[in-house]
Amino acid sequence: MRTTVGIIGAGPAGLLLARLLHGAGIDSVVLESRDRAYVEQRQRAGILEQGTADVLRAAGAGERMDREGLRHDGIELRFAGRRHRVDFPGLTGGRSVMVYAQTEVCKDLVALQLAEGGPLLFEAEALAVEGAQSDRPVVRFRHEGREDVLECDYVVGCDGHWGVARRAVPAALSQVFERTYPFGWLGVLADVAPSHDELVYARHERGFALLSMRSPSVSRLYLQVPAGTDAQAWPDEEIWDELERRFETRDGWRLARGPVTQKSVTPMRSYVHEPMRHGRLFLAGDAAHIVPPTGAKGLNLAVGDVVTFARALTHERETGSAELLDAYSPTCLRRVWQAERFSCDMTAMLHRRPEATAFEERLQLARLERIASCRAAGADLAEGYTGFPLG
Ligand code: APR
Ligand code: PHB
Repeated sequence: MRTTVGIIGAGPAGLLLARLLHGAGIDSVVLESRDRAYVEQRQRAGILEQGTADVLRAAGAGERMDREGLRHDGIELRFAGRRHRVDFPGLTGGRSVMVYAQTEVCKDLVALQLAEGGPLLFEAEALAVEGAQSDRPVVRFRHEGREDVLECDYVVGCDGHWGVARRAVPAALSQVFERTYPFGWLGVLADVAPSHDELVYARHERGFALLSMRSPSVSRLYLQVPAGTDAQAWPDEEIWDELERRFETRDGWRLARGPVTQKSVTPMRSYVHEPMRHGRLFLAGDAAHIVPPTGAKGLNLAVGDVVTFARALTHERETGSAELLDAYSPTCLRRVWQAERFSCDMTAMLHRRPEATAFEERLQLARLERIASCRAAGADLAEGYTGFPLG
């Protein structure tokens, strides 16, 4: 098999890249190790920055998002029993975000790709990328019990944190920057209308809690728990009791309960692999970087990477200049590090660290007070949340 761009992984990064290249008249093949149902059902975050929503629309994948997605003009910060709303349009000159689950983005992109795109092979596991520094890199993969080779002009590793693409970058040329956290998020999906019409980020002595949503009738809720917690060890009623305690306000706000339909623990980690390019191999999305979920930047970063790659390759096709391809890694990394900073700051401001001193806890509250009382501090949060500019 031969193609211009071999794409490993059909998460949002790989699927959107195939779509963008198709729109630019560049052919690609997507190899995905899991089956279609798995790709379409994996629970992930659901906040699209305004720039991400615009890219999906321009790629022809925005129709259902615009119909079913919920535009959100702010979030609520909850601390010390108080509520503070961060008004996005007011603080950013009109920007907002879209609540539309990553699973739905993937479903829309898979349907488009199968209807009018190039090959998208499910249960096709990439084994290795070879010849990244030659003119003809190849991806060795296994599909339907046979080993095969995909010859490419370029390979883009969109295969997530556990993929194989990153391994093709020699260790001597790689630098990894990471931080682990002693906590994770216990997430539940519940068949109950969200108790607030915007997301609520709560800082509490007992730990962080987040109220999010998937639709007007489905809530998505999270609790900070110690790393390594087993989700099944938390009975549903205890989850609701703990959520209620952490969301408590002085004005008597109530949390509505409903049947829990899914329960799992997400570990938290910050991770960046530099560079994001080695010869004709490019890394995009989780294959190159991970952010903790506070602030929901993961999907949006993946979108930024593939937009940058698609623009660079289109530029090369149109002008013969590899200048933008050469700039791929530094261009992406500038935005990646801003998102890493934002996600770390949000995490630090809202989570309870087991070893935190009373002094540090007072500082956390002072940071939240500052956002609530100073327009510039609020604007900084709102700008980060609604998204850093592309490119
Ligand atoms: N061969 C083929 N496919 C692979 C391989 C392999 N060896 N290894 C992994 N994959 C597939 C996975 O099955 C998955 O479908 O690559 C895909 C990677 O998708 P994601 O993990 O969703 O990563 P990405 O597309 O970069 O999206 C980033 O996902 O983790 C969230 O917060 C993150 O929302 C962000 C988004
Ligand atoms: C989610 O809805 O899953 C979600 C929302 C916001 C976050 C993280 C996750 O910061």
